[in-house]
Amino acid sequence: MQALARRWRRAGTRIAFVPTMGGLHDGHLSLVRRARKAVGRGGRIVVSLFVNPAQFGPGEDFTKYPRDLRGDAALCRAAGVDVLFAPAAAQMYPRSPGVAFSTWITEETLSRPMEGRSRPVHFRGVTTVVAKLLNIVLPDVAVFGAKDWQQAAIVHRMVRDLNFPLKIIVAPTRREPDGLAMSSRNQYLTGDRRRQAVVLSRAIASARQIVRASRRAVDATRLRKVLIKLIEQQPDARVDYIEFFHPETLVPATRVARGTHLALAVFVGKTRLIDNGRL
Ligand code: PAJ
Repeated sequence: MQALARRWRRAGTRIAFVPTMGGLHDGHLSLVRRARKAVGRGGRIVVSLFVNPAQFGPGEDFTKYPRDLRGDAALCRAAGVDVLFAPAAAQMYPRSPGVAFSTWITEETLSRPMEGRSRPVHFRGVTTVVAKLLNIVLPDVAVFGAKDWQQAAIVHRMVRDLNFPLKIIVAPTRREPDGLAMSSRNQYLTGDRRRQAVVLSRAIASARQIVRASRRAVDATRLRKVLIKLIEQQPDARVDYIEFFHPETLVPATRVARGTHLALAVFVGKTRLIDNGRL
């Protein structure tokens, strides 16, 4: 992959990159469309498909994460992707004595709250694999989804802090018609749980309504309580966190106003879902 990328670059061809873990859906494909817009018909689009073991904690869904290389490859081909890069775990993280993998990248501020608190090794795994993938694919632009807001902020920070020579683009969250943010993990939702999962986007909409109807900033603790109550009216829904924060610095907000960002993680049954939005 790196040799191919170097050839493209020597020929002056622009490269756009969309990293994924597969289980592709229209959210991923919207990033591919954004990537094409960024580099045009003369550019090349690389999608990576790698279920990165380093970003899953013990007891998380690494082993049952949806894997369908053939189906994903067909979707990529139809979407005009030039290369689907799907390395094996042993290539990305060799374990043999003498060549075992032992270098990690940790972002130390934005990684702490929210997903970082609930999933302690998660972002170290993300930053490390994204850095590796950027060094392999050598893109001019990489496209990430707003669905994983904290991840996009952290990748942005890493690229700035470590002088990676590329532009990061963040594309909007794609949703199902009822508002549920598209996610590979939605495949886990069966029966009534799929219906209950709409409560995440509904909570964001309610928060937005409350904030916009209020003439003064709203107290974060009070608003959080209102949203927990709304969400946990669903029989199988349990809130992991609800945070209000500044969209770029991720600094928590005690008073919530228009422009404050909301992110939440909710278990619906055993499935952990996340969503976010600007209020
Ligand atoms: P994955 O969850 O497969 O997501 C790949 C990319 O698709 C991410 O940038 C994510 O934000 C984006 N995405 C997912 N659902 C979306 C939606 N509904 N609308 C718009 N974009 C969406 O995120 C990862 O993989 C991994 O952490 C990765 C960055 C590949 C590193 O392993």
